[in-house]
Amino acid sequence: MKVLVVGSGGREHALVWKLAQSPRLDAIHAAPGNPGIARIGECHPVRAEDGEGLLVLCRELDIDLVVVGPEAPLVAGLTDVLRFAGVAVFGPTAEAARIEGSKSFAKDVLDAAGVPTASRLAVARPPCVVKADGLAAGKGVFVCRTQQELDEGLRAAAALGGELLIEELLEGEEVSLFAVADGHDAVALAPAQDFKRIREGDEGPNTGGMGSYSPVPGLGEPEVEELIDTVHRPVLAELARRGAPFSGLLYAGLMLAEDGPRVLEFNCRFGDPETQSILPRLEGDLLASLASAAAGRLDGELGVSDAAAVTVVLASGDYPERGDSGTPIEGIEDAESGGALVFHAGTARHGGQLVTNGGRILDVTGLGDDVAAARTQAYDAVSRISFAGMRFRRDIGLAAAEDHVRS
Ligand code: AMP
Ligand code: GLY
Repeated sequence: MKVLVVGSGGREHALVWKLAQSPRLDAIHAAPGNPGIARIGECHPVRAEDGEGLLVLCRELDIDLVVVGPEAPLVAGLTDVLRFAGVAVFGPTAEAARIEGSKSFAKDVLDAAGVPTASRLAVARPPCVVKADGLAAGKGVFVCRTQQELDEGLRAAAALGGELLIEELLEGEEVSLFAVADGHDAVALAPAQDFKRIREGDEGPNTGGMGSYSPVPGLGEPEVEELIDTVHRPVLAELARRGAPFSGLLYAGLMLAEDGPRVLEFNCRFGDPETQSILPRLEGDLLASLASAAAGRLDGELGVSDAAAVTVVLASGDYPERGDSGTPIEGIEDAESGGALVFHAGTARHGGQLVTNGGRILDVTGLGDDVAAARTQAYDAVSRISFAGMRFRRDIGLAAAEDHVRS
């Protein structure tokens, strides 16, 4: 098969890396891709938002399957454009992608499907959570424990425009659970935990994600299957009932609250950086699985290894306020020599030199027998990489590693 991956971040690098291991793969392309992806496949200068340009590219390259990374083109209808022209796509239609594109739509679907979620509140009073309704790259949610946080949250959410949603503040452990869906049924991938705040100890503003690890303590196969049964399958059934069957990656952001799991949000695509921790653990043919889902008949279990993975995001100095470009990056080969995987998230090549080009620059994934060993490999690799202003969290997977030691 000839495959085109759409996007240019660390998630897309991980997807290309994993898809390239499939015995069914003949060629892998990316649009626009990045310098890390260019080491594996061929990159083409077409933007992820340019549906017509991507269609021309698919025809020129005779692409058999398109895998879409980011949410914005999905919500804007990229899948519809490509499918209408007869190109197979792993990713939902615009109608189905509203599960991420509109938080109020997602709430309606959850309520109709009887899936537990945070209650909507009529009045904004702390503690509560303020959400802007539309897409905001992970930056449209404000957790407000005090009146001051609430005042600031309401102001910031209003500045994003659109409707506001106020909901109950849930406490507990968060987990990201992805499932490959074919419109009706779903197969789970391994659960992961994501670190959304910029600073250690979950302090500071929300980001796109500063790190992740997998597996998550306490969530073995039976627990995961139960979550898919109580969350993903009812939502798929409700979307199909509404005439918007979801095929693609259905990502549930869950809070494991004291009284049971509750949905915080849905995304209509692979999570970033969770994908960089999940795919290295995946045994089995990802391409076969995504192609079968895109064709509407999911087949095959996706096995998972016992190994653990920890991903540390290396960001630019002023992230998340702003990114950086043109700063030289050193040490990637040295970092990889110890066995860690280095995925490019926001890089560019100027002449022969690799430089920064974004907010999140690199994602470093370490593997090991348990989370502690994976952390050691990841942070050892991180210590070999440098660029001016580089910032990262030192506590990715720390609590899970300590948990394991205690149990
Ligand atoms: P979302 O974009 O809806 O996933 O929200 C981003 C982050 O905000 C989540 O990963 C949680 O950390 C936090 N969050 C969202 N909704 C809630 C809620 N109802 N209670 C507590 N935290 C929340
Ligand atoms: N890691 C969070 C997201 O991809 O939305």
